[in-house]
Amino acid sequence: MQNILRRLGYLRRFLFFLTLSLGVILFSWIVTAQQPVTLNLLMTAPDAQPWQQGMVKDFEAENPGIRLNIIEGPNATNLLEDLYTSAFLLGDSPYDLVNMDVIWTPKFAAAGWLRDLTDQISQEELAAFTPQDVEGGRYEGRLYRIPIRSDVGMLYYREDLLKEAGLEPPETFQDLMRVSKALQQQGKVNWGYVWQGRQYEGLVAMFVEVLEGFGGFWVNPDTLEVGLDRPETLQAIAFLKDTVQEGVSPPGVTTYQEEETRRFFQSGQSAFLRSWPYVWPLANEETSQIKGKIAIKPMVHAPNQTGGACLGGWGLGISKTSKHPKEAWKAIQYFTSIEAQRRFILSAGYVPSRRELFTDPEIVAKYAHYPQILEVVQQAVLRPPIAQYAQVSDILQRYLSAALTNRMTPETAMKSAANETRQLLVQGKS
Ligand code: GLC
Repeated sequence: MQNILRRLGYLRRFLFFLTLSLGVILFSWIVTAQQPVTLNLLMTAPDAQPWQQGMVKDFEAENPGIRLNIIEGPNATNLLEDLYTSAFLLGDSPYDLVNMDVIWTPKFAAAGWLRDLTDQISQEELAAFTPQDVEGGRYEGRLYRIPIRSDVGMLYYREDLLKEAGLEPPETFQDLMRVSKALQQQGKVNWGYVWQGRQYEGLVAMFVEVLEGFGGFWVNPDTLEVGLDRPETLQAIAFLKDTVQEGVSPPGVTTYQEEETRRFFQSGQSAFLRSWPYVWPLANEETSQIKGKIAIKPMVHAPNQTGGACLGGWGLGISKTSKHPKEAWKAIQYFTSIEAQRRFILSAGYVPSRRELFTDPEIVAKYAHYPQILEVVQQAVLRPPIAQYAQVSDILQRYLSAALTNRMTPETAMKSAANETRQLLVQGKS
């Protein structure tokens, strides 16, 4: 009898512990199931601010099961690319979404770091974006990146000063020099023109525009022909060197990135600036010295040539190793939707990737120059969309910077740049 009672006691305790453990397991399962999925995303610090201010909160409010963790990286796109690259090379990348500059797609796709998004989106849906931006997301016919904002290089100028002096906005490189010098001589401004001359990706983005304006080319993506040792390239370098030698550009330009040039122009120190559309809302802020005094136009060119416009821009891809591809795709759909883009553009002043937003009444009421930007975007050219782009760009950055800072003659520098580029592309082919 006692035995039976003891056994019953054991059984009761056993059942008690079993229920307790099952309860604990069930409870933690419910808690985990309810825990939001966190998507990690790395972007440049200036980009992160407008995201954090609005877009992310709106997205999370609409998607309570998903959190977005934005990690701020360095300002220069090539440094950000290095961070993504080392994360992918190490294996399990911590990033779910990949915020990609338009020039990264071929390399990241060729390395197998991205999910193929081709079947996630229909042709009709893609047709709403500017074709150039969509092209920037393709590699070997497959789609890896959905454009979230476009970007294009343009010439900013002080409309007020030109009007006061009775001068027309420049069309050619010579005009730009002449008008700058006239404004400087009249004491209206200390400097004529600022551009990005530091050794980094922004230098080549600026340079391809000047190169195109002289009728030259860098790498032909179809034939892999290299144009760096042709006379047009030397003319393009000569123009940039002249801006400094003739006192039109400050000697410091060879150390400037976008933000240094924007601050320079915005503080009223120069009449012209080459930059991207993000400058517009900042230069027109209440506190800006040039608020309401500027205009934009396509980049200047040599006589009988057309102005070059470099296509920039950012888009989202999904990392191959992400454990949350469904949620990541949801985020992409949200951030590229018309509503989210409209809000993002109205608050951050970026250029949309959806064509219809360039002429959207609410957007045009705030940014009257957007229809004009769409025209420039549609004529813009991609930097060579090839898998070896990062290396090809690094070669040009190094030699161009050496030529601009008088460490090498332009001839020697470009001969070496052309040869190294050819060697690299031949190796890549075999
Ligand atoms: C802008 C452009 C990007 C370009 C970079 C260069 O961010 O959108 O495409 O590579 O500037 O600095």
